[in-house]
Amino acid sequence: INVALLAGGFTGEYEVSLNSAKNIAANLAETGKYNIYTILIHRDSWAYDHNGETIAVDKNDFSLTLDGEKIKFDFAFITVHGTPGEDGKLQGYLDMMGIPYNTCDATTSAITMNKAYTKALVHGIHGLHTAKSMQLHQRDMHDTATIAANLKFPLFIKPNNGGSSVGMSKVQNVAGLQDALDKAFHEDSQILIEEFIKGREFSIGIARLKGKITVLPATELITTKEFFDYEAKYSPGFTEEITPARLPAEKVHEIGEIVTQIYLRLNCRGMVRIDFILLEDTDEFYFIEVNTTPGQSSASLIPQQVRAAGMSVPEFYSELIEGAM
Ligand code: DAL
Ligand code: MG
Repeated sequence: INVALLAGGFTGEYEVSLNSAKNIAANLAETGKYNIYTILIHRDSWAYDHNGETIAVDKNDFSLTLDGEKIKFDFAFITVHGTPGEDGKLQGYLDMMGIPYNTCDATTSAITMNKAYTKALVHGIHGLHTAKSMQLHQRDMHDTATIAANLKFPLFIKPNNGGSSVGMSKVQNVAGLQDALDKAFHEDSQILIEEFIKGREFSIGIARLKGKITVLPATELITTKEFFDYEAKYSPGFTEEITPARLPAEKVHEIGEIVTQIYLRLNCRGMVRIDFILLEDTDEFYFIEVNTTPGQSSASLIPQQVRAAGMSVPEFYSELIEGAM
């Protein structure tokens, strides 16, 4: 089975994606079932490194020609975080090429990449709450006094289509708002402004394996930083990740029900990871976002959760391929 492992992409999560691809390739190689071709997605070319020589993918038929031999792919394993691998663009291309892939389809990927649209769609799921928020578009007027009058500080300012907290800020008062808006608008033309929710942070993976929805053990994230920003996520020493999370059985059950409802309502496929805050005051789960191409470095949350569930990571990736073919 020829697998095109698609990595890279156009965002600040490029390096994160390369680390994901390295780990996926190593785990899939262990199964001995796949010929894996890691292809780096750049704006100008989709490149495969063939013994030091860069070979471009022919996008007309999604093939590589190596030493005069044309290689066609049976499957695409997408691990590009952000555009164009998490927002439906590669998915749409692969649909048109008739190549199966591991992630949610184009529509679900496009919707879930947008934090505000996702919030609107999951609204109403039993037991699920979301933080009060507003959306701004770059073309609109942004009057910081109006924002301050409508929402309670502290506020999170996020690029609406971002990941790994790139371009994100936590703001304590109106004086800090303009810089935070500028930073987020540098990444995206739409931003989301959300009220801070005080509580414990959890992230939980879910996947359809052998046709059955499988909820992975949740991870609790405890950071020494102001919030779980890019540095807290990827540099050692800033965050403690506890998998499985220390939660009473009824909360484990509750979060499992919630992620299953979200997975179904959004018509998800493959593995996704959903982030929550458990509110300190009321013990209720607040939804943050859905990640449809979650990080896959060996230290990332999904591999941790798969191991904590007693499953083998190579077997897990292999089942995602088999289930999607
Ligand atoms: N956006 C990063 C890769 C994640 O969700 O894991
Ligand atoms: Mg994310």
